[in-house]
Amino acid sequence: MRAVAVREFRAPPELVAVPPPEPAGGEVAVRIEAAGVNPFDWKIADGILSPRRPHVFPLVLGVDGAGVVTALGRGASRFRVGDRVFGQFLHDPVGIGTYAEASTVPTGIAVAPIPEAWSSVEAAAVPTAGMTALDALERSGVEPGGSLLIVGATGGIGSFATALAVARGIHVLAAVRPEAADRARDLGAEAVVATGTADALDRARAARPNGVDAMLDVVGPRESFVRWSSLVRPGGTALTSVYVAPTTPPGSSGPRFVNLDLQPSAELLDRLVVLLQRTRRRIPVERTIALEGAPSALVESRAGRLRGKTVIALGR
Ligand SMILES: NC(=O)c1ccc[n+]([C@@H]2O[C@H](COP(=O)([O-])OP(=O)(O)OC[C@H]3O[C@@H](n4cnc5c(N)ncnc54)[C@H](OP(=O)(O)O)[C@@H]3O)[C@@H](O)[C@H]2O)c1
Repeated sequence: MRAVAVREFRAPPELVAVPPPEPAGGEVAVRIEAAGVNPFDWKIADGILSPRRPHVFPLVLGVDGAGVVTALGRGASRFRVGDRVFGQFLHDPVGIGTYAEASTVPTGIAVAPIPEAWSSVEAAAVPTAGMTALDALERSGVEPGGSLLIVGATGGIGSFATALAVARGIHVLAAVRPEAADRARDLGAEAVVATGTADALDRARAARPNGVDAMLDVVGPRESFVRWSSLVRPGGTALTSVYVAPTTPPGSSGPRFVNLDLQPSAELLDRLVVLLQRTRRRIPVERTIALEGAPSALVESRAGRLRGKTVIALGR
């Protein structure tokens, strides 16, 4: 089958021919119809998980996928052949990814049936970014009627976080690059402030003179995270997905700092599906590409040039 893989850590991703993987006990085989592109994919190619988890090479990239179950491993009873499923397929050994015509996934992890109204492309856009967004929203403690600053509101995590927060009745202040302002408004952000100028924080303060209840920063770096967090009211929460939050100083009257560390699960994915269906919005997919386009999409993601969510469509 065709797949996009690296031959060793930090090697350039390339289109390769590899045998389709066989489902082990408790796993199903899936004909992949679509695979979501995440920054996590090139980080895995760089070896971010290598100290903790076993890998196989060529390492087929991609953690998010959607497709049709084609075979059941021993004891795999949750799905049947022909079921449409999607989820975060990451499992050990790392390297049996979703940038491929077929993959395998243990049935006990973050996989679920694809809702009828969603295409495979829409489903593949959801798992990692959507679950991280929901986790962040839940851990922010913001109630309906409250306010949330999202730095990087139009990327993968940011667009799901904005849509989920707005659907929950939370007022979203989006800090985005100037060219992304319209996209942030389309997602439902109530106020938008452009980043990249020295007075960005002052403009955000002018838009929310009483501050915000919580903040989610998916961009960093640490100095920027700490600066933006000064908008959070005392007792509020400042979360980041890029591990730049310092330890909250003991006795601090400022916000509580949180480094998100997504723990994907079938239960979290199920809750996300229910909430996304309630938003009555299309899943935000910015661009669809062919499998051959994955290596250059990863170069663009690494350089911060991918806009919104990109999905690889492999077709039926
Ligand atoms: N901790 C965890 O458990 C966890 C889980 C998932 C992901 N992550 C990490 O979280 C990060 C974000 O993930 P993602 O999927 O959302 O990535 P993404 O789709 O690449 O989105 C990144 C966002 O950052 C924005 N951005 C970049 N520079 C900016 C700037 N100077 N000002 C304002 N916005 C800026 C981009 O804006 P444009 O759209 O305008 O380019 C884009 O909206 C990645 O590093 C990922 O690996 C962590």
